[in-house]
Amino acid sequence: MRWTIQQLKQYCQEGFLLVPNLLSVEEVAALNTDVPRLLTGEDSSMHREHEHSGAVRQVYNSHRHVPTFRNLARHPKIVEPVQQILQNSFYIWHSKLNVKEAFEGTVWLWHQDYGYWIYDGVDSKLMSVMIFLDPATLNNGCLMVISGSHSWGRLEHNSDTTTSYKQWCIHKSVLKEKVREAEIQQITGQPGDALFFDCNLVHSSNHNLSPIPRKSLIIAYNDIDNKPRPVEKPRPDWVVSRVFEEISWPE
Ligand code: SIN
Ligand code: MN
Repeated sequence: MRWTIQQLKQYCQEGFLLVPNLLSVEEVAALNTDVPRLLTGEDSSMHREHEHSGAVRQVYNSHRHVPTFRNLARHPKIVEPVQQILQNSFYIWHSKLNVKEAFEGTVWLWHQDYGYWIYDGVDSKLMSVMIFLDPATLNNGCLMVISGSHSWGRLEHNSDTTTSYKQWCIHKSVLKEKVREAEIQQITGQPGDALFFDCNLVHSSNHNLSPIPRKSLIIAYNDIDNKPRPVEKPRPDWVVSRVFEEISWPE
């Protein structure tokens, strides 16, 4: 399960690494079997965000409530590379099922995750793993990234209300200066593929204009020694977890 030196080098240079077929067809099927109960809202212990259309946009922290998702967040296929990258023990910062329903799922504007997380009182020792539960295509709003942008450091973000959902995103003037068309990479893939990425990687995604959904699970991990310091406006536990259950590998 450990990454090779070459894989680690690529991750460090580009700020991300796509691992095809990280999960088997059976593992993806087991997760997808549990997805409908995450979406229906029967279980009110999970925080949900919605599109203006009413469709579910995100479901937080399935890893706390659903065994298949709990096991996935601690699976050696994921946590061993995470430990190689973070070089320390870590805990789950949060997890979110991002749902882009066919024709309805809306955009994510350009941002860095650390653009948000800096205000939670942490340093940039966090990273995320995005596990594809559906195909991610050019038409259904696959993730887009700028290779190497994690090395730009944290960029200035501001609140944007031009889309159906209030977002914190990179300032337009900064984007105009930094982002070149030829450098935008579209991360297409199949169910079971996984994208590991740095918290300063610049990323976004388009509207789902296709007849197929684009669901993916993003699990964010934080270095165990990077627990949030007190801040003026602490965000709730569903987005900034106070469950500091340590994950280390080998356990
Ligand atoms: C995110 O950045 O959290 C979401 C991106 C996406 O699901 O396309
Ligand atoms: Mn993000």
